[in-house]
Amino acid sequence: MLDSKELRNKYLNFFASKGHTVIPSASLIPENDPTVLFTTAGMHPLVPYLLGQKHPGGKRLTDVQKCVRTGDIDEVGDDTHCTFFEMLGNWSLGDYFNYESIGYSYEFLTKELGISPSRLAVSVFAGDEDCPRDVKSAERWEELGIPKERIFYLPKKNNWWIAGTTGPCGPDTEIFIVTDKEPCSPECSPACDCGRYVEIWNNVFMQYYKHPDGTYTPLAQKNVDTGMGLERTLAMLNGYKSVYETDVLRPVVEFVTASCGKSPEGETLKAIRIIADHIRTATFMLGDEFGIVPSNVDRGYILRRLIRRAVRYARLIDLAPAALTECAAKYVEIYAEAYPELRTNREKIMTELDKEIGKFDVTLQQGLKEFDKLLKYIQDKRMSGKAAFRLYDTYGFPIEMTLELARDNGITVDLEGYERAYNEHQQKSKAGAEQKFKGGLADSSEATTNLHTATHILLAALRKVTGDETVMQKGSNITPERLRVDFNFPRPLTPEEIKAVEAEVNGVIEAGIDVVSEEMSVDAARAAGAIGVFGDRYGETVKVYTIGDYSKEICGGPHAKNTRDLGKFVITKEQSSSAGVRRIKAELKK
Ligand code: SER
Repeated sequence: MLDSKELRNKYLNFFASKGHTVIPSASLIPENDPTVLFTTAGMHPLVPYLLGQKHPGGKRLTDVQKCVRTGDIDEVGDDTHCTFFEMLGNWSLGDYFNYESIGYSYEFLTKELGISPSRLAVSVFAGDEDCPRDVKSAERWEELGIPKERIFYLPKKNNWWIAGTTGPCGPDTEIFIVTDKEPCSPECSPACDCGRYVEIWNNVFMQYYKHPDGTYTPLAQKNVDTGMGLERTLAMLNGYKSVYETDVLRPVVEFVTASCGKSPEGETLKAIRIIADHIRTATFMLGDEFGIVPSNVDRGYILRRLIRRAVRYARLIDLAPAALTECAAKYVEIYAEAYPELRTNREKIMTELDKEIGKFDVTLQQGLKEFDKLLKYIQDKRMSGKAAFRLYDTYGFPIEMTLELARDNGITVDLEGYERAYNEHQQKSKAGAEQKFKGGLADSSEATTNLHTATHILLAALRKVTGDETVMQKGSNITPERLRVDFNFPRPLTPEEIKAVEAEVNGVIEAGIDVVSEEMSVDAARAAGAIGVFGDRYGETVKVYTIGDYSKEICGGPHAKNTRDLGKFVITKEQSSSAGVRRIKAELKK
């Protein structure tokens, strides 16, 4: 028997003994990477180093990275899929390559973990016009004793790894545990999903960069990027049928089972697993060092979807939704040692979860009734976009939930109609908000406008002075007298930092820089490096305000024409706002 703590330690110690520097897990919220919402692999935080930048830890690194992947959310409930997981990783940044990497993996699996080589199967890249067949990796596996019949050559679809659509990438070799399941056909291979082969480790030989036009160019250095799923490996090592039996999930699964008083099989088992999975992911998202809260956009929307889906499944098995918060409390304790940030942010986790669960639980039952009513009147087994939008707008059903309910009831949803209804609503509320904004400014326009511009400069100055590029606005409130801005930052600013931030802002004011406003699509704004809330999911036009090369933010405005109009900037207060969020109040003196 091996538990999660032992496996983490064994892995890190093994790679440390092979000259790798142990680095900490990065945040689940990627820094400086607008292409992904969450960290989905250990390599994410390392992209600059895979591209050639020097890492302070050297050329060999290892870590355990917390990851979120929601692409397979519909598979959650089976034996192996989770939306949160831990990835054990090791990297060579232009140092060793496939020969050594395969040797390390084999040694770790067979010697350290004691897995019999006869239970291992591997796949390697079959080769195509972009990259040759990976004969070298296959030969290395053979040299180590894996027989030819358990070495599978597979195409790009299976044996090529890239995070997203562009960036560093390359062929990989994947390592599988052969289970007791019989082959599903004579062609059965790791490429099929029958469950005979369970993937536990992926070694990527990262040597290309894929460009937006689809072409590949060689990287300046050849890297190795490996990732091993902690939960799956634990399950395989301990002879468990599913990851939900491992020590990181089992206590919650048992708690939910006992609380609902139902036998854990069939649809009930699926619901229990979905709850255990989604609440774990929500706990990590809320409790992250750059934690988020539920909202209707981007990351917050994914978090909201997970929590609401857990509430729905709780109701399905007669589990009181309040029990979901207890699941979160259990996770805080299970992970307290490996991820102390969960304990630090415990209160935030519990409060936000309670709030979101409470809010949705009220409308869920009514929404489900409404859904049933709709079913009766539906024509051609197709729900209109307007009806789906009403379920979202009035009852808080994320569209994905409506799609799932529809699928369960054998109907489809007019998704385009939904998006049209959603957009129309957005336009209306935007117009409403602009009206309100104009009204609010009528009596205090100049002071408020100047403070608004000062807020943008302040955020950029905070990033510059603290060196923390992830500093983002978490809230803002402006009166004619002062600005108040909340931003994510893990500790109080020092008096020196406060002085330095004031000096930065005043420097920009004195430089007399024009404030330029442009309208563009969300994609263009993102590409231009603008920060701010990339709110709309359906491609609306946004306004981007640029202050020289100092600040670029998506914002509704209005703003001062030139920074020299602002006067002297003075910070009057720096305090805590909530866990991981600081608050600054500041004034502009004439
Ligand atoms: N980046 C690869 C993966 O996620 C190896 O870690 O599978």
